[in-house]
Amino acid sequence: MKFYIATDHAGVVIKNDVIKMLDNKKCEVIDLGTNSTDRVNYTDFAHKLSEKVLSDSGSFGILICGTGIGMSLAANKHKGIRAALCHDAYTAQMARAHNNANILCFGQRVVGLGVINSMIDEWIKTDFEGGRHQERVELIEKL
Ligand code: RB5
Repeated sequence: MKFYIATDHAGVVIKNDVIKMLDNKKCEVIDLGTNSTDRVNYTDFAHKLSEKVLSDSGSFGILICGTGIGMSLAANKHKGIRAALCHDAYTAQMARAHNNANILCFGQRVVGLGVINSMIDEWIKTDFEGGRHQERVELIEKL
């Protein structure tokens, strides 16, 4: 599984730990920054990562800011992006199973590394269920 990852200054402190987690799970990871705690706009990183995910079929994204809220709002402005703000293993599992989410968002100020690890595990092992959820995902695209 291939992931792009990006954060703002309020998500950068845990980025390398998340990259290590993905490495340990044999995932390919491409780091799109930021690389310091200097203030940046999360919109720039959400945009850069969303474009990568859209142009690289089958890839996923991870966006981290302070809360995960700004990143998810910005990423979801892109047609074809379904960015899910998750807080635990259950929301991560449902984001894949029911929403066919292609970007996982969370907040460095909200969740710890143990919870993040469990969210990534669910994300990796959960396929989109399709069926009745397929129509709903298509309806999202039409909005
Ligand atoms: C930065 O202080 C913070 O506002 C940002 O990382 C994010 O939480 C916004 O949604």
